[in-house]
Amino acid sequence: MIKIENLSNRYGSIITANNVSCEFECSEVTVILGGSGSGKSTLLKQMAGLARPNSGRILFEGKEITCLSKKELYEVRKSMGMLFQGAALFNSLNVYDNLAFPLREHTKLSEKVIQTIIKMKLEMVGLRGSEHLMPSQLSGGMTKRVGLARAIIMDPKIVFYDEPTSGLDPISAGVIDKLILDLNRKLGVTSVVVSHDIESAFKIADKVIILFYGNIIASGTPDEIKSSPDAKICQFINGSPDGPIPFSHTDKDFMVDMRSQWK
Ligand SMILES: Nc1ncnc2c1ncn2[C@@H]1O[C@H](COP(=O)(O)OP(=O)(O)OP(=O)(O)O)[C@@H](O)[C@H]1O
Ligand SMILES: [Mg+2]
Repeated sequence: MIKIENLSNRYGSIITANNVSCEFECSEVTVILGGSGSGKSTLLKQMAGLARPNSGRILFEGKEITCLSKKELYEVRKSMGMLFQGAALFNSLNVYDNLAFPLREHTKLSEKVIQTIIKMKLEMVGLRGSEHLMPSQLSGGMTKRVGLARAIIMDPKIVFYDEPTSGLDPISAGVIDKLILDLNRKLGVTSVVVSHDIESAFKIADKVIILFYGNIIASGTPDEIKSSPDAKICQFINGSPDGPIPFSHTDKDFMVDMRSQWK
């Protein structure tokens, strides 16, 4: 469904993608894992057409989105949903108006139909009757769930989730994982999930990609990743402080080693 070809991107001296190529299959859940600052959110925003990479191509259903005009992109984005890291709700709007926003912006549906859709989506995320609440009145878990309801409000073909379970208690995280899986298994929604949560990634993923300072260091099924003999991957999935990956990305020897792998 999405194909990334030779994508490179940097902000000054920070490289977020270094000649990245990968594919995201239709109706699959792909989880992108990676350390903090490794370029996951940037890549997700680029895939969702919200930011342009410096070079390379992103194809969505065969259409190159990296060179579309604003108007064309607007059309393509109707079939995409995005749960932002931190949910990105409008603070001055209540839950109802946050959810109504994309529907009012992109469709000519009557307010009655909008009301029904919102009720249905809130029900799906377990927040029935919370239309009147303001974002400041929501807990972290509720905020994520409203963000999720907004991401799926237009029944998208693909949903991008940026850290959907971070900061949540295990039960709330499990609820979100189940929702992602239900949307995928029951409605065939293609899902791209950025996460730090290795346990949840292995639970929901058909495919896992590990991004490390702009490089894909591993890609495969959860079983393939779990049984990889690569020291970097073992360290990453075991969360070990000792190993080839240093805590600080300013570690000079390590960065020289990573750079030697950059094309
Ligand atoms: N618009 C921007 N301008 C300048 N630098 C940016 C911008 N967006 C991201 N960066 C930098 O690019 C790097 C990657 O950021 P990104 O948000 O993609 O990381 P991440 O993998 O999502 O991290 P985290 O797990 O902490 O959310 C960081 O060093 C960040 O400071
Ligand atoms: Mg991020």
